[in-house]
Amino acid sequence: MSFPISRPRRLRNSPSLREMVAETRLSINDLMYPIFIVHGKNIKKEISSMPGQYHWSVDRLDELLGNIEKAGIRSIMIFGVPKIKDIEASENYNPNGIVQQAVIKIKELNSNIIVATDVCLCGYTPHGHCGILDEVEYVDNDRTLEILKKTAISHAEAGADIVAPSGMMDGMILAMRQALDSMRFVKVAIMSYAVKYASAFYGPFRDACSSSPKGDRKTYQMDYRNKKEAIREALLDIEEGADFIMVKPALSYLDIINELNNKVDLPIAAYHVSGEYSMVKAAAQQGLINEEAITLEILTSMKRAGAKVILTYSALDVAKWIYK
Ligand code: PBG
Repeated sequence: MSFPISRPRRLRNSPSLREMVAETRLSINDLMYPIFIVHGKNIKKEISSMPGQYHWSVDRLDELLGNIEKAGIRSIMIFGVPKIKDIEASENYNPNGIVQQAVIKIKELNSNIIVATDVCLCGYTPHGHCGILDEVEYVDNDRTLEILKKTAISHAEAGADIVAPSGMMDGMILAMRQALDSMRFVKVAIMSYAVKYASAFYGPFRDACSSSPKGDRKTYQMDYRNKKEAIREALLDIEEGADFIMVKPALSYLDIINELNNKVDLPIAAYHVSGEYSMVKAAAQQGLINEEAITLEILTSMKRAGAKVILTYSALDVAKWIYK
């Protein structure tokens, strides 16, 4: 008998064979594209901390939607950058707020696109925290829930298909589910940022939304040393009625995605966040790496770990790369 009998290389010998046995495939249907909307007219302004990403005004959304449709992307996540910030974050649930205007316009332009909205207070308060502060500047969980409920209803009224609370408040999923159901928005899904770590990878995004907090978010976002806690957070949100469980950031947290995928039945969403994106962009701009190859490798690793949905700023590029 010749040695070795088993030769794994046999299945790697041609592109067709490799395609045939590939265990993981990145699909355009997996990708959700986050977009940033601002007040004003005729604005398409590049975000300096996130090369290739833009602030868009509502009147330019037809151009953006055209790009999204051409790429074949079917879902987006909307972040609003409000003009006015106040301690009650009231622009969040203003029926004429920036997110509401954007959702209405997008649904007019294309009723088939899946529209998710980020629901949080950080971009809407002057202090940049994800909740209402009490007398000693501690984020008051239960008062914050009241704002999240109003915001969820307001986004649903504008036409959002998915609301995505990202503030890591305890009980936020149940509060929003009950609020939505009480207004008969039973079809609006909740994508919970269930497992969101206090992370330095959000830096470029905070520049984009001018939402850097005074201090840090460690009393509500998770400690990155913890894994059991991620399971606890996810199971709680499932009990409360979440439809998707998100892990954020993604790349340094593949172990968490994998663990959750083994333990829960809901689709897992991975958020490939701004810092991960901008690191690749910066290195590519310096000619240090191949952006296309490295992005596809990174996103595929998230799928391999168990993510079903991937939120990525590279979605439009990835679409081109997948189809070429
Ligand atoms: C709002 C929110 C943040 C991100 C998504 N929703 C910022 C934060 O928590 O500071 C980060 C997204 C990214 O970095 O790409 N709470």
